[in-house]
Amino acid sequence: MDLKGKNFLKMLDFSAEEINYLIDLSLQLKAEKKQGKSQKDYMSGKNIALIFEKTSTRTRCSFEVAAYDMGANVTYLDPSGSQIGKKESIADTARVLGRMYDGIEYRGFEQDKVEALAKYAGVPVWNGLTNESHPTQMIADMMTIKEHFGKLLGIKFVYMGDARYNMGNSLMVTCAKLGMDFVACTSEKYFPESWLVEKCQDIAKQSGGSVTLTDDVAAGCKDADVIYTDVWVSMGEPDAVWEERIKELSPYQVNAKAFSYAKPGAKFMHCLPAFHDLNTTIGVQIHEKFGIDCMEVTDEIFESERSIVFDEAENRMHSIKAVMYATLGDVR
Ligand code: CP
Ligand code: NVA
Repeated sequence: MDLKGKNFLKMLDFSAEEINYLIDLSLQLKAEKKQGKSQKDYMSGKNIALIFEKTSTRTRCSFEVAAYDMGANVTYLDPSGSQIGKKESIADTARVLGRMYDGIEYRGFEQDKVEALAKYAGVPVWNGLTNESHPTQMIADMMTIKEHFGKLLGIKFVYMGDARYNMGNSLMVTCAKLGMDFVACTSEKYFPESWLVEKCQDIAKQSGGSVTLTDDVAAGCKDADVIYTDVWVSMGEPDAVWEERIKELSPYQVNAKAFSYAKPGAKFMHCLPAFHDLNTTIGVQIHEKFGIDCMEVTDEIFESERSIVFDEAENRMHSIKAVMYATLGDVR
């Protein structure tokens, strides 16, 4: 498998073989780190730019730790720390950074921007999240499922909540490619766009998986292996949408009732950050305004044995390491 020089922009660009290769490479790199094996020569002396036009905990830290572990150096540009889009176009920025860096991570708004960056940079560009997709999260999520279930093929994966945004889209594409049974279980308004659903249904026909949309929680969660959710309001969306999201998505909260339909060993996953208690500023504001003490997932489920969210978060680092190593490193 040769991914050297490739960009990592969205899951539709990758075959099932390539995705499985990245998942297995992530598992190998994780095992090496646990054994204390040095990975310093994998990307020794490479320079990486990390551009964040939205905030981050996991993605930024994962890129930084992964780069340091593999001997690379990083420059972090925060949402206010660069000229991008304000004084300088994406195309010009790409051509400047491409002269200085060996690889560029970009988190921002429209997918078009990361695609343009990749077009002009001349070095690998990795999408650290856009409104439309979150591909590095996919490798971590699938790696986590493989660790817990020993397989991906045939896993019934249920996504509840806003399935139209980056996480719903990317998970639907990834599950379809890997022969999994993907269900978007939410109100019709929050189903992914129909062109993408149709594309994924075609992909699933080839892989042996399936893609289903339902607004019925009992039917959607029936015999689920994994129930997944994400925040109801994503970064960059206006605060004004909270009220309608709470009203429309509350029936699709991940809670004990939803899990009562699932398989006995079913797991809970979430890309994080999550609103499951009142220990966040926004959680408290929402509580004061709407009287609820959790949103997309109950604290009971989040803190339960079923929850594998912190394995998933750790795996962001190992899988981002795999993405950088495969596209830029000296893979042996
Ligand atoms: N899951 C995820 O991308 O987290 P951050 O926003 O903290 O990077
Ligand atoms: N849908 C969320 C994902 C965060 C990792 C957002 O875009 O804010």
